[in-house]
Amino acid sequence: MRPFAPGRRLAPGYEVIVHLARSNLLDVYDAWSHERACRCVVKLLRPDRRGDERAALALQREGRLLQRLSHPHLVRGYETLCEPLPAVVMETLRGETVAHLVRRRARRLSAIELGHLGVHLCSAISYLHGQGVLHLDLNSNVIAEAGRAKVIDLSLARPAGSMRAGIGTWCYMAPEQARGGEIGSAVDVWGIAGVLYEAATGAAAFGDEDDEDAEFPSLERRPHPVARDRRLPVALAAAIDGGLRPEPSERPSVARLGAGCEQAAGLPRAERRFAARLRADVGGGREQRAGRRGD
Ligand SMILES: Nc1ncnc2c1ncn2[C@@H]1O[C@H](COP(=O)(O)OP(=O)(O)O)[C@@H](O)[C@H]1O
Ligand SMILES: [Mg+2]
Repeated sequence: MRPFAPGRRLAPGYEVIVHLARSNLLDVYDAWSHERACRCVVKLLRPDRRGDERAALALQREGRLLQRLSHPHLVRGYETLCEPLPAVVMETLRGETVAHLVRRRARRLSAIELGHLGVHLCSAISYLHGQGVLHLDLNSNVIAEAGRAKVIDLSLARPAGSMRAGIGTWCYMAPEQARGGEIGSAVDVWGIAGVLYEAATGAAAFGDEDDEDAEFPSLERRPHPVARDRRLPVALAAAIDGGLRPEPSERPSVARLGAGCEQAAGLPRAERRFAARLRADVGGGREQRAGRRGD
């Protein structure tokens, strides 16, 4: 069944402007909200997947989670709909995914831009962990909007704990995620480091070919140090390489990764010192809440 055409009513008060993306279970639309008199993005269960109870529940869980979160580097959720099809309504982000930006641009992101990207991601993920959830699928789910990174797609988000093997995006999964078992905040440190590695070098740390027959790449090999392909400030390169260590306990914490990025972003020393003091005050409790069982 084809996606809905422009002008079609998706739900009371929402009309299709244009269809944006389709996956196995979902359609994403740029839509008009009559109530807000503005554009919004609607993530909707595909009409030919109606009756898929698990997918419907997952979408509603994602919507309710987004609605209770509020952070400048996290997409904002407006509403969760059940009828006529389950849907999540969100703010429209005007930008492209970082993965797309990196492939399109001839010039790579500067060290300062990479630093800012890392600071924004660490900020969003640290908040998410504080709310008791891991993201688990950062790779292509970061949108660059007017110099700000925004994390989208909480479809896999869940609390730390035991997880089945192989839930995530094939070549972007941390080893513990690919293998299954206990996962903690280090899984998202891996995710952030993977986004930064790709943005720095122009190539995914573990390739991006889908080959379902092969073993998960993160269980098979280690990426080259990022400095082999790209000259970067030492602290940033060390933070990225450290974030991709196979053993979760050997990866830096989100706060440490963020500190390596802050330095590269060229934030004024006073601001960095202030941020470090705040992290020291609140960091311990926050990381405990996200359940650093894997690390
Ligand atoms: N709030 C948004 N603003 C703009 N584009 C979005 C937004 N949410 C999703 N998209 C676009 O739709 C695509 C799919 O959405 P996503 O939430 O990642 O769904 P999926 O779970 O299918 O990966 C994204 O990669 C992005 O291009
Ligand atoms: Mg996605």
